[in-house]
Amino acid sequence: MPDPLRLGIAGLGTVGIGVVHIIQAHAGLITARTGRPVTITAVCARDRNKDRGADLSGYAWEDDPVALARRDDVDVFVELMGGSDGPAKASIEAAIASGKDVVTANKALLALHGQNLAEGAEAAGAVLRFEAAVAGGIPVIKALTEGLAGNAITRVMGVMNGTCNYILTRMENAGLPYETVFAEADELGYLEADPTLDVGGIDAAHKLALLSSIAFGTRVSFETVDIRGIERVTIDDIRHAADMGYRIKLLGVAQVTGRGLEQRMAPCLVPVDSPLGQLPGATNMVVLEGDAVGQIVLRGAGAGEGPTASAVMSDVIDIARGLRLPTFGQPARSLVTPATGRAAAPTPWYLRMTLMDKPGALAKVAAALGDAGVSIDRMRQYRHDEAFAPVLIVTHKTTQDAIDHAIGNCTVTGVVVGDPVALAIEAV
Ligand code: NAP
Ligand code: HSE
Repeated sequence: MPDPLRLGIAGLGTVGIGVVHIIQAHAGLITARTGRPVTITAVCARDRNKDRGADLSGYAWEDDPVALARRDDVDVFVELMGGSDGPAKASIEAAIASGKDVVTANKALLALHGQNLAEGAEAAGAVLRFEAAVAGGIPVIKALTEGLAGNAITRVMGVMNGTCNYILTRMENAGLPYETVFAEADELGYLEADPTLDVGGIDAAHKLALLSSIAFGTRVSFETVDIRGIERVTIDDIRHAADMGYRIKLLGVAQVTGRGLEQRMAPCLVPVDSPLGQLPGATNMVVLEGDAVGQIVLRGAGAGEGPTASAVMSDVIDIARGLRLPTFGQPARSLVTPATGRAAAPTPWYLRMTLMDKPGALAKVAAALGDAGVSIDRMRQYRHDEAFAPVLIVTHKTTQDAIDHAIGNCTVTGVVVGDPVALAIEAV
């Protein structure tokens, strides 16, 4: 029997213990599939005395993840602590410097430091893999890196934050306002320690930036993702969207246009009967489009112990099999710095605004849109009792620049009350 592949696991929370459970439950199956046993040598967490619901007695304990990363009896360092800097970064760097392979689920760290870490790993002859960092149990990194490697990828889209999809779905199903459902999500333990990562769209943007790198051969460019969260989505928007045959999703879109790499994470309208429109609760979905294959839709659990540990094991098993793929699908040094193109691809837009109910108000808004080159496809004004009229407009395809221009025009008409809401409508 060949030598075992020996893991050192830093982080024994939801995902880390999930990995321990899989390795303990499936030792025979993993050996049969890889041709060698996969074992755990040592583990690390903050609190040695915590009951973690798993038997850890056979493993050495390290208090310091960096010490774990440097152990001679560890072949693969599995980083499952989280955090974009601090111990996670220090220990991964230590593992790479020691020539060890690394598996991580840490999207925040990779979105900020993935390029440097990947270059370091390649220089050291090590691999750095991160299937679990994007869309939990969905094997989307594998799909892009391997299954679709013969395609020029034309577009990547996805709902990649389960918490936001839970909040939006629950608002629609229960007719509850954002604030109430946010509090429910908090009670259910869905929210990150810093909830802004979820509802502000940042966590999902981290994931989109990682997918973009593989899809388009570009250096990870998180700082150029145009990010909008779901905090301003109202129950009225959800109802109005439904009324017109759409649902609101926090949707990531990445594509290369004539102006460069466009990456945006924002609440969008999608047709109710589309695959994304049918996505319930905390589920994730990633849509990949390639020039040869057409459209691929991947759907599944985006978080949780089993699904995320399943993805970690996919990387571990690749390494056990001797499959040594570059972190972002091609050598890190060959990734190019993308020119950034802000939402150049035209889509229809949903606009909601409140107008003063007086003669000529609608005409002024229509003229303001027309002056910005925005053409109206559909328009509704809802019954109202007060002096203000809620108006919905669906435009023909236009660019974000034109919409921003149009909204600017609207606000100086003197008939629009408050800030208009503008959401892109994506065809999927
Ligand atoms: P978690 O439940 O909070 O567990 C984190 C673990 O790391 C804990 O065991 C903690 O120790 C340990 N830890 C934290 N700081 C440490 C330090 N300085 N030294 C040693 N150990 C330390 O987190 P998680 O949900 O498992 O997430 C782990 C990673 O997976 C994160 O990068 C996360 O973004 C990613 N991820 C998670 C999910 C998910 O569904 N949970 C999905 C996809 C990706 P103690 O237990 O002693 O406090
Ligand atoms: N906060 C993340 C989510 C966890 O809600 O999808 C999984 O990455």
